[in-house]
Amino acid sequence: MRHALASRLVRVVTLALLGAAVLFAAWANSAGGGDRVDQALDLEADIEHGQQLYSDLTNPTCASCHSLRDAGATSNIASDLDDFQPSARVTIQSLIAGTTLEHDREGYADELSNQDLADLARYIESVAGN
Ligand code: HEC
Repeated sequence: MRHALASRLVRVVTLALLGAAVLFAAWANSAGGGDRVDQALDLEADIEHGQQLYSDLTNPTCASCHSLRDAGATSNIASDLDDFQPSARVTIQSLIAGTTLEHDREGYADELSNQDLADLARYIESVAGN
């Protein structure tokens, strides 16, 4: 009787730990988008194409929400990137992971190739704050 209860307890605890491990792995994977970020950061960027993506070639355009002097973007819906000055890594991570705020930034993970992500992020990194 006692033994049965103990082994049942062990089973419940084991299952709970397994479940937690699976959840953690899923979370770590979606939070970072790790591999893609590093792959994009390794590419040689086309800065001019990055500017076109920022102002015209994304949907919705980055310019429609974020100010950036170099691009002539003045929207104040979201953060001013001249103030924020995100590193290329931060930009790519943000575009892949999305934000938890109003808009669905998940969209860019599908819309943009790794090369696009690199071009955009390096463009912003090179001009923000100038
Ligand atoms: C619909 C509005 C909207 C669009 C379009 C948009 N963003 Fe954002 N972005 C946000 C919001 C909201 C956040 C969360 C923090 C904030 O308010 O800036 C954010 C966060 C970020 C961040 C993280 C820095 C921060 O301030 O938290 C970066 C970098 C960024 N966006 C770059 C971009 C780029 C590059 C594009 C174009 C591919 C883009 N965003 C398109 C609204 C937008």
